[in-house]
Amino acid sequence: MQNIVLIGFMGAGKSTVATRLSEKSGYDPIDLDALIEEKAGKKIREIFSDEGEDFFRGLESQQLSSLSCSADCIIATGGGVVVRPENWIAMKKIGCVVYLRARWDTLRARIDGNNDRPLVNQSRSWSEVEELLLRRSSLYEQADLIVDTDGRSVEEIVDEIVAKVEDCVLCRVKD
Ligand code: S3P
Repeated sequence: MQNIVLIGFMGAGKSTVATRLSEKSGYDPIDLDALIEEKAGKKIREIFSDEGEDFFRGLESQQLSSLSCSADCIIATGGGVVVRPENWIAMKKIGCVVYLRARWDTLRARIDGNNDRPLVNQSRSWSEVEELLLRRSSLYEQADLIVDTDGRSVEEIVDEIVAKVEDCVLCRVKD
């Protein structure tokens, strides 16, 4: 079986959904940001401050392509994985790409107060972060499956993914 790749903006709930989805499906959870931190030996915010965003994006693409042989995994990605075209080729190759969509006010409430996200903390105003979401939205919408998460429990979201992901796999076979 192929993998499920979760994408979405910061605060979309990718890691939380990945954990519950893996408990429910028996698939192994993989967190791309955690793999990057392990490989670099430092936190994401330190990679951003020491080497910059481009360097981080390079590590992100490398770690993603290292998953090409994985099977039966739930892969939670970082919110910016969608910006590099080569990441799309890698993601679509390894699995069904699921976009966890949420409104800006929902996302903002979830990321407010968390200091681990360099793209929120680098003296950006909230309107600049919202602008980033708007710029990325059409990229996220290239996913195989879009799941709306506003006002829904993790359980409801996971159930929808489980119910629909099979169609996504079958569509891909037909393509
Ligand atoms: C990023 C999102 C972060 C992390 C890094 C960059 C982004 O992951 O990969 O800080 O560009 O949106 P989360 O989406 O899990 O916060």
